[in-house]
Amino acid sequence: MIKVERLTACIGAEVSGVSLGEASRDASLFAEIKALLLKHRVLFFRDQDISREEHVTFARRFGKLEDHPVAGSDPEHPGLVQIYRSEAKNPYENNYHSDGLWRSNPSMGAVLRCVECPEVGGDTIWVNMVEAYKQLPEDIKKRIEGLRAKSSIEHSFGAAMDPEERRKLAAQNPEVEHPVVRTHPETGEKILYVSSFTTHFANYHTVENVRHGLDKTPGASLLLNYLQSQASIPEYQVRFRWKPNSIAVWDNRPTQHYAVMDYWPAPRKMERAGIEGDKPY
Ligand code: SIN
Repeated sequence: MIKVERLTACIGAEVSGVSLGEASRDASLFAEIKALLLKHRVLFFRDQDISREEHVTFARRFGKLEDHPVAGSDPEHPGLVQIYRSEAKNPYENNYHSDGLWRSNPSMGAVLRCVECPEVGGDTIWVNMVEAYKQLPEDIKKRIEGLRAKSSIEHSFGAAMDPEERRKLAAQNPEVEHPVVRTHPETGEKILYVSSFTTHFANYHTVENVRHGLDKTPGASLLLNYLQSQASIPEYQVRFRWKPNSIAVWDNRPTQHYAVMDYWPAPRKMERAGIEGDKPY
């Protein structure tokens, strides 16, 4: 029997008494898990000794899987992205993000399995961005109504590349524009939808309000920084300690996450099946 234990009052639940391998073959069990996901936003499962095939089959029940232009996928299981960090590869800085915000259709969600984890450190934090929106001051909510923002892969993954490689990445993945407040397509909730992939507002200044030579970007940057900083508020977060065969399933639309890089030089190996999403509105 499925047991659900909430980890905070705001976000996250640990689910036991279920095998995701079984859920990959059982539509009604999958439907139960999907309903829990919409409610808790991120679900954690322990001791899931499932095969890679079961991993991708379970994830595909949510939708089509997506590969990543920078992080490689398992050649035998397209869509299963390998997030492998080792002693030879000092992990770079992380930040709060929503997967694929730089895509025109950002990820709907993901299923992440821990293959190998460090003895200490390497936790992941998830943030409830519905709560982050709800708690904004009313004047800020009014200020950001109708605002749109640009996001790009170039300024995050591209930043660690040489200029030629970076130009190529940018050309293949042009910047995209999304609403600053999106609506969850299944629950109707409002979500604060800027993350570290967001570079600037698209319509902060308009013909009606721009004061040439005076405004330019400072006001917009301050507002964007303020909105981005909401993800780091602990009351909106849950933090998960990994063990091998632990799995996290998250709804990427109303959440952001942050993989804490506090374990180097110990290795950490994760495999993520990212699920294609729809166009935010
Ligand atoms: C991710 O950022 O999607 C991966 C999170 C993790 O490695 O914990």
